[in-house]
Amino acid sequence: MDTVERKISAPTLSSPGTRRLTEPYPCARRLGASCRLAAVNAHLDTLFSLSGRTALVTGGSSGIGLGIADALARAGAQVVLMARTEERLRDAAERIAADGCSVDWVSVDLSDRTALLAAADEAARRFGEADILVNCAGVNLRPPLEDLTEADWDRTLATNLTAPFLLGQRFGPGMARRGWGRIINIASQQSVRAFGNSGGYGASKAGIAGLTRSQAEAWSPRGVRVNAIVPGFVVTPLTKDVSSDPDLLAALAGRTMVGRNGDPADFAGVAVFLAGNASEYVTGQLLFVDGGFSAT
Ligand SMILES: NC(=O)c1ccc[n+]([C@@H]2O[C@H](COP(=O)([O-])OP(=O)(O)OC[C@H]3O[C@@H](n4cnc5c(N)ncnc54)[C@H](OP(=O)(O)O)[C@@H]3O)[C@@H](O)[C@H]2O)c1
Repeated sequence: MDTVERKISAPTLSSPGTRRLTEPYPCARRLGASCRLAAVNAHLDTLFSLSGRTALVTGGSSGIGLGIADALARAGAQVVLMARTEERLRDAAERIAADGCSVDWVSVDLSDRTALLAAADEAARRFGEADILVNCAGVNLRPPLEDLTEADWDRTLATNLTAPFLLGQRFGPGMARRGWGRIINIASQQSVRAFGNSGGYGASKAGIAGLTRSQAEAWSPRGVRVNAIVPGFVVTPLTKDVSSDPDLLAALAGRTMVGRNGDPADFAGVAVFLAGNASEYVTGQLLFVDGGFSAT
């Protein structure tokens, strides 16, 4: 082992939330640089650390939202979960806090505009204004389009599209005034294509793609970056009707390039990237995190 390797693999600096290198850093050897572990970690912190940031994650009690909330907390953010069911919120917060991460929750039905605004104010009062907003809460009602009622439509649009709009209106201008912010919306393959018996949901997710661009256009000049993650098929409570059919599940996995369906943990890296300084020059984009599903 040469000098550089010894310096880098020595157990030294650590701070919560950022993954530490335990292996020799190959580029250091290639460049012949005296790239010390402290410098490597400082570089990674500059790009990815969320220490000092407050992140509000709707839908953070389950599935993809829980995966994202956990990742942001592990990267150093103080995380606030928002969803309806208190028991699931409590369980999720306990799970995230188990490793010493900072997390709390506020219960609210986001399809109720008045309750949403009150909950947003409560979160801000208790935990500070959000620097990072993740709009992940969603519902997918699946009757054939001709059987979709107006009530189904209203509930779908209220939760999946109006809530992200209202939370953006609540927190986006403050982020812009402070000169730094991140909004991450969760879109869907249905933002760009149709899928079986999901007409109302597809319309709401197509709207999320447009909202992402509108929010980016409004606030990017003042330090806010707004992007959407487009998942592939992920087994969660939302997709239990589909995932209870093993043949369909296998067919969906077969359509990906990596040969499997998604897992909530697959969104950790992209969420930390989009929530931090590393995404400084990325805004108004749909990022497909789908194992290549959309590229086939
Ligand atoms: N799973 C997939 O394959 C997939 C693919 C593409 C996009 N997505 C999107 O990813 C996001 C998360 O989905 P998921 O699969 O992780 O679903 P999930 O496990 O069912 O989680 C949905 C979350 O949203 C919350 N929620 C639902 N309605 C709400 C309301 N009215 N007010 C407040 N919170 C509400 C739920 O908590 P409560 O029920 O307790 O309120 C839960 O925390 C959704 O936007 C979904 O459209 C999922």
